[in-house]
Amino acid sequence: MRRMIAVAGAAMMLAVAAMVVAAQQPKPIVRPASPVNAERAAVQPVPWMMLAPTPPMGWNSWNQFACNVSEQLIRETADAMVSSGMKDAGYQYVVIDDCWQVSRDANGVIVPDAERFKSGMKALADYVHSKGLKFGLYSDAGARTCQGRPGSSGYEDVDARTYAAWGVDYLKYDWCNTDGVDAKIAYPTMRDALKASGRPIVFSMCEWGSHQPWTWARGVGHLWRTTGDIGPTWQSFTRLLDQQVDLWKYAGPGGWNDPDMLEVGVKVGDRGLTLAENRAHFSLWCLLAAPLMAGNDIRQMAPEIRDILTNKEVIAIDQDPLGTQGRRVRQDNQGRGATVEVWAKRLKDGGQAVVLLNRGNADAPMAVSWQELGLRYDAEPMVRDLWAKKDIGRVKGTFTATVPAHDVVMIRVTP
Ligand code: GLA
Repeated sequence: MRRMIAVAGAAMMLAVAAMVVAAQQPKPIVRPASPVNAERAAVQPVPWMMLAPTPPMGWNSWNQFACNVSEQLIRETADAMVSSGMKDAGYQYVVIDDCWQVSRDANGVIVPDAERFKSGMKALADYVHSKGLKFGLYSDAGARTCQGRPGSSGYEDVDARTYAAWGVDYLKYDWCNTDGVDAKIAYPTMRDALKASGRPIVFSMCEWGSHQPWTWARGVGHLWRTTGDIGPTWQSFTRLLDQQVDLWKYAGPGGWNDPDMLEVGVKVGDRGLTLAENRAHFSLWCLLAAPLMAGNDIRQMAPEIRDILTNKEVIAIDQDPLGTQGRRVRQDNQGRGATVEVWAKRLKDGGQAVVLLNRGNADAPMAVSWQELGLRYDAEPMVRDLWAKKDIGRVKGTFTATVPAHDVVMIRVTP
């Protein structure tokens, strides 16, 4: 009897607690009229994990433009995504990073910068959609974003419903100003709000790898940052690359390690990668099955940068449906900073992609044997050079190449 009273008492306390929590929720926003709801009904059945069967591809404003975002930039970028061939190559999401938001209205609804986004977010999303592309935004799990704009803490439901009403397809969710917040609660809270909005929205977790998201984020986000911020330098690229070495086991269809967005073609002051370095960075990100979010100014992209970002055979390695993340097979330190590495990724057709990376400052003769890739000693696979776009033919035993400084040779090996 005493036990029953205790159980009943506990149940009552839970009910009261639930009422208190409900009373603290921000006022629900009025749902917009039927067209959005009709669209919502039409898209509802997409299974959530299937929003990212392969690593998401798109463009994000941060690496090149930081806070200098506007609807004009986004419209022109969407146009250029189509005219440059980026869309045809598979880039889909056009994402505005930090600084689009300024305040909340009396109902707690987030307010975009009316100067920079005069037509409003719904109109901008409609424009991006009219180009056959998808639209993304950024928020933060804290009270403020990294640039001090309003974050989503306490407003997850109202924000998710607002994004859905605007036609948002992708949310990057940052981790600034979250002292005392538990990432394993904050991210599922926003995931649940996005799901409840009824619109399929890719959820990009950006907590910088602080709480080893690779061990718990599958099913919470579709991609999770594994590192701090990337910069447009060789040092930054190689530092982030080294942090990916042991993470291959956590990536796969529906959930991807995110070593941060691409710096290919990005120029910030006098910082920027050389052409060879851009090629190396892109090759390795594809070998890692990393999300491919371009960060450069697509509107005035040099042809050689476009050729890197739209190399379909290299992108096919990233997007291979088997969904494995590549691994570092070997690292040879040849002294005086001359380090060369062999990376390989298994592919659906039974073949492998191989990247020979020269981290040193002089040309390096390199070799990879089929045996170290796990092939039979007598294998004689077909080899194709993915940057030269040339078949090399059947090769026995060992593949050799001279790799220029800070560059790669990338091949596809097919049994
Ligand atoms: C953090 C993120 C970056 C970018 C900025 C925006 O630093 O890691 O990718 O979103 O915030 O303020």
